[in-house]
Amino acid sequence: MTNVADMGNAMGDALGDPSVDARAAADAAGLTNPANVAVRNLTIRLGANTVIENLDLDVRAGEFVVLLGPSGCGKSTLLHSIAGLIDVSDGSIEIAGEDMTWADPKDRRIALVFQSYALYPTMSVERNLSFALRINGTPKAEIARRVARASEMLQLGPLLKRKPAQLSGGQRQRVAIGRAIVREADVFLFDEPLSNLDAKLRTELRRELKQLHQRLGATMIYVTHDQVEAMTLATRMAVMRGGVIQQFGTPAEVYARPDNLFVATFLGTPAMNLLKGTLETRDGSVEFCTAHWRLDVSAYPFKSAPAQGLPCVLGVRAEDVRVGEGLAQQAKVSLVEPMGNHRVVWLDYHGEQVASIDQSKTPVGVGDSVAFSFDAAHASLFDDAGGARL
Ligand SMILES: Nc1ncnc2c1ncn2[C@@H]1O[C@H](COP(=O)(O)OP(=O)(O)OP(=O)(O)O)[C@@H](O)[C@H]1O
Ligand SMILES: [Mg+2]
Repeated sequence: MTNVADMGNAMGDALGDPSVDARAAADAAGLTNPANVAVRNLTIRLGANTVIENLDLDVRAGEFVVLLGPSGCGKSTLLHSIAGLIDVSDGSIEIAGEDMTWADPKDRRIALVFQSYALYPTMSVERNLSFALRINGTPKAEIARRVARASEMLQLGPLLKRKPAQLSGGQRQRVAIGRAIVREADVFLFDEPLSNLDAKLRTELRRELKQLHQRLGATMIYVTHDQVEAMTLATRMAVMRGGVIQQFGTPAEVYARPDNLFVATFLGTPAMNLLKGTLETRDGSVEFCTAHWRLDVSAYPFKSAPAQGLPCVLGVRAEDVRVGEGLAQQAKVSLVEPMGNHRVVWLDYHGEQVASIDQSKTPVGVGDSVAFSFDAAHASLFDDAGGARL
């Protein structure tokens, strides 16, 4: 086998194996048994590279967990280790409470969908969908039931007789997802399944995937480097960097309360505004101070009392920066980006660029002097030294 897509294909075909008797009843009822996945102390070395070290991840049954991070951070490696395509160097992987660290991929009750559709080009959609079930001798009536169910869910009915070459990219990816559904697996693994599609198809299929998760109730683990996919699909998301999970939480938590500067700037468009300063503590009050601004941050939920004079970075989202009359700080408009339903107003604040997402229709132009401010309650504070949230 030359590439991982082929491996997944072959593995996927084996995954339809109904020999797992315990699942017969659930299969007959057309159900999946959403399983939890527990990754413990996982270390993976590839060649001389330690790609993942001591990683823990707990996915609850029925969750939609997204692994998000920049290229090369180890997302696929983690996913493939859960699938059993990569040997682990240390640690363990449990699925539904069972140690699967060294289990054969076909025994893990999982289904995989890759970025490349990996369909059989000479087979019709229907035969692509049923292939895995046919090779392991699933009864005809059962195959028909599962294919009908998957094609109904994914609106593949009118396409069943076509060959992959006669389908659009989005339709091919639907078939690839259908091949996973007919396996009625307990855990679905997706590796950037939408990244080959154009923007419109991506958003359509993204919505369909979310609905599919709601209908199937299966556990899903989904790899992407697209923050919009992560925010919209995840029940919880793990933001990764350099093989390490930086933060694991609901999209709302991770967005509003990033654990460190990496997460803060990785999520959000435009990226979170950052201002450098120091914390000045006096008589029980705390102020964030720059050369031009003293902002009372006494109400900030500090994890531990900050040291006097601590160098720190204040982060505030563009939608929390208000522009208008009578606000605390003066800046000059350096750029206006109209976005249809809002605009991004870029401010030059003593040489720093501050972005504001502005819903108002008040005319504003480059070079205008404007006042701006933000609510300290919506700000994040980070240690300038290590970037950790204060
Ligand atoms: N067979 C290998 N031998 C050595 N290093 C490898 C091997 N396969 C992957 N790596 C390295 O492991 C790291 C993680 O790779 P991985 O494919 O998991 O990243 P990823 O987060 O999925 O990235 P992308 O978003 O580009 O798909 C990368 O630095 C990569 O170069
Ligand atoms: Mg990858």
